[in-house]
This record gives sequence, C-alpha cells and structure tokens, in this order.
Amino acid sequence: DEDLDAAARDILTANDRGGYTIPTAGLYPFQWNWDSAFAAWGFSTFDADRAWTELETLFSAQWSTGMVPHIVFHKEDDGYFPGPDVWDTGTTPATSGISQPPVAAILARLIHDRVGGTERLRALYPKLLAWHRWWLECRVAHGIACIAHPWESGRDNCPDWDPGMANVDTAGVGTYQRRDTGHVDAAMRPSKEDYDRYITMVKFGRECGWDQVEIRDNGPFLMGDPATTFILIRANRDLAAIADILGEDSAEPTAWADEMEAALPWLWSDDLQAYVARDARTGVFASAISSGAALGLLAGVENAAMEEKLAAMWDRVRYGIPSNDPAAPSFEPRRYWRGPTWPVVNALIAVGLTSAGRDADEARLRRETAELIRQGGFFEYFDPTDGTACGGDRFTWTAAIWLAWAN
Ligand code: DGY
Repeated sequence: DEDLDAAARDILTANDRGGYTIPTAGLYPFQWNWDSAFAAWGFSTFDADRAWTELETLFSAQWSTGMVPHIVFHKEDDGYFPGPDVWDTGTTPATSGISQPPVAAILARLIHDRVGGTERLRALYPKLLAWHRWWLECRVAHGIACIAHPWESGRDNCPDWDPGMANVDTAGVGTYQRRDTGHVDAAMRPSKEDYDRYITMVKFGRECGWDQVEIRDNGPFLMGDPATTFILIRANRDLAAIADILGEDSAEPTAWADEMEAALPWLWSDDLQAYVARDARTGVFASAISSGAALGLLAGVENAAMEEKLAAMWDRVRYGIPSNDPAAPSFEPRRYWRGPTWPVVNALIAVGLTSAGRDADEARLRRETAELIRQGGFFEYFDPTDGTACGGDRFTWTAAIWLAWAN
C-alpha cells in the first residue's frame, strides 16, 4: 500500500490552501468543520505540526458565542452556493451561520495520543470547552443534541431528516442557482425540493441575525440527531480525558456527558428497536435506522436489540456500514446520505468498535473500507452494494482516514 499512502499524502498536500484544507477542489472550496478535524488526523501521520495547525485554523473562526461554524470562507470562490453573501453572518472571517458535529475533541485526543503536542492541545482546550458549551446552550432540546439544519448534522439528505423537512414551508425561498450539480452528477446529490428547504432555513437564520436560541426555539427545522448526540457525549468524555492530561478540572465535561446520556431514552424508538432521529417539535421519529445509530458505541451505548438491527443492516450490503438501511424504501445506494457508505463514518464507527473491544468487527469494517479505496480511489463515498465510487474525487477526509486508520 505504499503507493496509496503516497497518493493520500499527496491529496492532503494538494488540498492544503495554507493552514487549512478544502474537502475537495470544485465542489467544496472552503474549510469545512468536521472535514478539517479528520484532515488533521490524517496529517498527524506525517506532519504533526500541520495537524495542529489545521485545528487551530478552524478554531480561529470560532464565534464569540463559542460556536464553531460549519464553513469558513477564508478566500472567495464563486463556485459554491450558498456563499458568504447568502449567509451574511457579519463575521471575520466570513463563515456560515450553523455548526457541524463536534468531532474535534475526539480527534484532538487521538492526534495527541499519536504525536504529542501537549502545549498545542492546552491552547485548544478552552476553545473546545466553549464550543461544547455552545451546543448545550443553543442546540439541546429534550436533553438531546439537535440540529437546526440538515447541514449541521453533516449527513445532509439522510432520510433521518425527512420528518422535519416535510414541515418546512418553502413558499418564500425565491430563486437561486445551485453550484454543486455543476461539479458532480445530480443523481448523486440532494434533490431540488431538499435545496429549497435548505435555503429556507438559511433565510430564517439570516433574518433573525443568527440568534441561535431563536433558531432552536422557532426556526423552521429542529431534529434530535442520534449521531451528533453520540458524538457530543464521546467528545465530552474525551475532553474530560484531555482535562486530566492537562491538569485541568474535568468535572464540567463529565457532567455534560452524563446528563446527555441520561436523556437518551427520548431518542429510543420502540418500533425500530434503535436510537433514531426524532423531530424535536412534533416528536415524530424517522422511519428507518441509519448509520447514526452505529455511532452509539462511540458513546459507550451498547444495546443488544439495536446491535442486532445494525448487524442485519451491515449484512445487507457488501462494503461498509450503509448510511441508510438497505431494507428501507428510502434507500438509494448512490444518493449521498440516502444509502452510500462513507469511509469517514466507517472510521468513526471503528473508533467506537475499538472502545467496545469489538476487534473482529473493527477489522472487517477496516478491510471493507480499504477495499473500496483500493478499487475506486479516494472518493467521497461509495455504493455499498457494488463498490461504485461516488461524489467528489481526491477527497481530503477519505485520504485522511486511509492514512490514520484504513491502510
Ligand atoms: C453542501 O453544500 O452540500 C454541504 O454539504 C453543506 O455543508
């Protein structure tokens, strides 16, 4: 695999725009929040300094409220919609007005384990703490981490969000020009109806001056997300471990993790026998299990009934954990988050499998993910039934998880 290792390093280096990495040229020409945290993990395999720099650059765009935005528009590029003028957050640097799953603490801990850098970690620590506090203040309902926009989950058009999306009134959306479908096949991207709703939510945020409590309480969309919830629980546990390394008081992140864990029953679906996305306004559950549930192990949640469901879901495909259950009518094996397997999510699930001591499953997931990359290249995501490479090519986080995990 030496050639692939070199190719992966080359992708990270080529996507480096000077202190931050774009996910892929064309489709995603700025710094994306969770992509960057994985990029840092990849860099840590060959350039420790550059790994920490990636996280530092991301947090340089942190809002005074603690929020770390999902996109940082360091430099202009009109190949992406919605750009900084549409978000209109008034921040420097220009950013989007929503966040993304808080994986940074999880990866910062893994990076520190790999390459050290305690002083860099120490400087990051209060920023991570402030971001997690922002989640609690601005995105928790029913005790659960909620998302105010599907982009905030990072799993944009997953059927998880269909109940909330159905209630978004797009009457005032106006006209706009998508850019994503100029870069990749429209059949692999979210639909026009999805985009109308995405843009409607951005409009609400802009019109309330990005008042995040208002967005949570009265915005057009709010859904409890099992993936973000599990990630935040794990991130708080890792932050507590980081506090111990640094000689700081770990009580606060520990309490946050404990409280959210205690609220998990709200996400439990008796029908599906799993933790399932749930509309925070109406209480309606999504209709299928997704890869979000597979992240439960990250948070130490191991439920026998759910594990059985997840095992069956995995066995229905040939490669990796699918983003949506292949048995569900909403399954589309090549449409973004409605079925494909995502190497980066597999890597995160693997962190959970390792924590749970599930070494054989971890090895299987690693083998299947590596096979996809060997056959198809460093693509954004793959058809889990036949391995067809989909979405953007030369993708940063796929290259990163190859180096840090799959190789
Ligand atoms: C997009 O534009 O598709 C991004 O996923 C938003 O984060």
